[in-house]
Amino acid sequence: MEFSIKSRSPEKQRGACVVVGVFDSRKLTPPAAALEKAANGYIAGILGRGDMNGDAGSSLLLQNVPGTLCDRVLLIGLGKEKEFHEKEFAKAIRTALKAINETGATDASIYLCELPVRKRSLAWRIRQSAMIAQEAAYKFDQFKSKKDDTRRPLKKLSFCVDRRSELPLAEEALAQGLAIAEGMSLARDLGNLPPNICHPTHIAELAQAKAGEFKLDCEILERADMEKLGMHSLLAVAQGSHQPPKLIVLSHKGGKAGEKPVVLVGKGVTFDTGGISLKPAPDMDEMKYDMCGAAGVLGTLRTVARLKLPINLTVIVPATENMPGGGATRPGDIVTSMSGQTIEILNTDAEGRLILCDALTYAERFDPDTVIDVATLTGACVVALGSVASGLFANKDALAHDLLDAGNEAHDRAWHMPLWDDYQELLKSPFADMGNIGGRWGGAITAACFLSRFTKKFRWAHLDVAGTAYKSGADKGATGRPVPLLAHYLMQRAGKLN
Ligand code: BES
Ligand code: MN
Ligand code: ZN
Repeated sequence: MEFSIKSRSPEKQRGACVVVGVFDSRKLTPPAAALEKAANGYIAGILGRGDMNGDAGSSLLLQNVPGTLCDRVLLIGLGKEKEFHEKEFAKAIRTALKAINETGATDASIYLCELPVRKRSLAWRIRQSAMIAQEAAYKFDQFKSKKDDTRRPLKKLSFCVDRRSELPLAEEALAQGLAIAEGMSLARDLGNLPPNICHPTHIAELAQAKAGEFKLDCEILERADMEKLGMHSLLAVAQGSHQPPKLIVLSHKGGKAGEKPVVLVGKGVTFDTGGISLKPAPDMDEMKYDMCGAAGVLGTLRTVARLKLPINLTVIVPATENMPGGGATRPGDIVTSMSGQTIEILNTDAEGRLILCDALTYAERFDPDTVIDVATLTGACVVALGSVASGLFANKDALAHDLLDAGNEAHDRAWHMPLWDDYQELLKSPFADMGNIGGRWGGAITAACFLSRFTKKFRWAHLDVAGTAYKSGADKGATGRPVPLLAHYLMQRAGKLN
């Protein structure tokens, strides 16, 4: 789809469809009033007959409206003007896209972005609209032999602003929204790919291809390299599988030389059977999504590279399967991590922390300013927060607050969870420095506590996205989260958020 920003009054707009809003009790927004003026009572007449009230989520399609130059006028109900906040704004954009797609229009001009939304700038409204439009257009049908392409797709979408002076700012926001959507779409594709195709080698090859396209530095560590580095915790997870593990490192160098990078680490378990601590059969297919942390950080890198953000960003992806093959790790095995700390593997299904701990130790060599890991780490986090918020842990409160703010701004929210020392003792092992599980309670927290033992040398945050990175049930699929949160955090750091 092609996107643009325009500033032209709606009655002078040519094309297949002009979209304007109506608040409840048939109160016209300024662009709707401009059309009504040109149409000389035509729209008010239709509303007066009760065909539309302006209720949120409603829409009404009009053809050949007198006094206008476009084929169709689409009215979108916005609900109460006083309650038109960010959620209602997003709903209006979604309703508009759905209604446009039900027509034969291949282009549309949307006049909803200049409506004030409490605490939200024009740039925010444009960014959000672009993201919503691309999200709605997302399809994952590469494995369907018959594609569902019966209706004429929307090809051109314009967001309209009041003043020409707003064009540059709106255009920058549009570019940001599209770059975030592009990152999300990469993350969703990677997540949705079946696990026989999206294995560690596939992710490594994709990383190399992206490195070429975006001029990123790329390094892939093989099993032998990991052995030399002493990554025995990561290797323990990989040893039950025929697929070789990969540690993928990609760097975007947009900042000043010598500026400390932000490092993003993403859990890349391309399929999690649980290993010898085998998972139950129902819904086990969803464990193909256990690489959504990796997909999220790679998607974020794509957004950052697309926007050429003036920051240094390094992404590390430990990628492996967790399989119960004959060589698999046994419960009770003790391994020495790259950090030198020993781990008693009491449950082979707590594998995410075992691969992340070595990747986090490896992050030290980049002398990072900040490290953020992203992982579908625990079912306990889903129990705690459901699919609304990601779990956020950090060893510095200021970092946690910056990430919470970014999540609120992006509408990709996280919730701050505790990392108090009191939880650390649950990881005690009689035989090694620690066990890899902390017992029945507080599972998301004890998992984060485990990681915190490998992140003492830098500012660090951990996002548990087990409940937010993908959806189960009828609309099963990867969501692209937390790309919006991370992208907003990095845009903010780069001073590019309006
Ligand atoms: N990948 C899972 C976590 C998960 C569970 C993600 C459900 C999404 C939905 C992780 O590797 C895992 O199995 N965690 C265990 C940890 C436990 C053994 C301490 C869990 O959450 O049950
Ligand atoms: Mn597991
Ligand atoms: Zn897992």
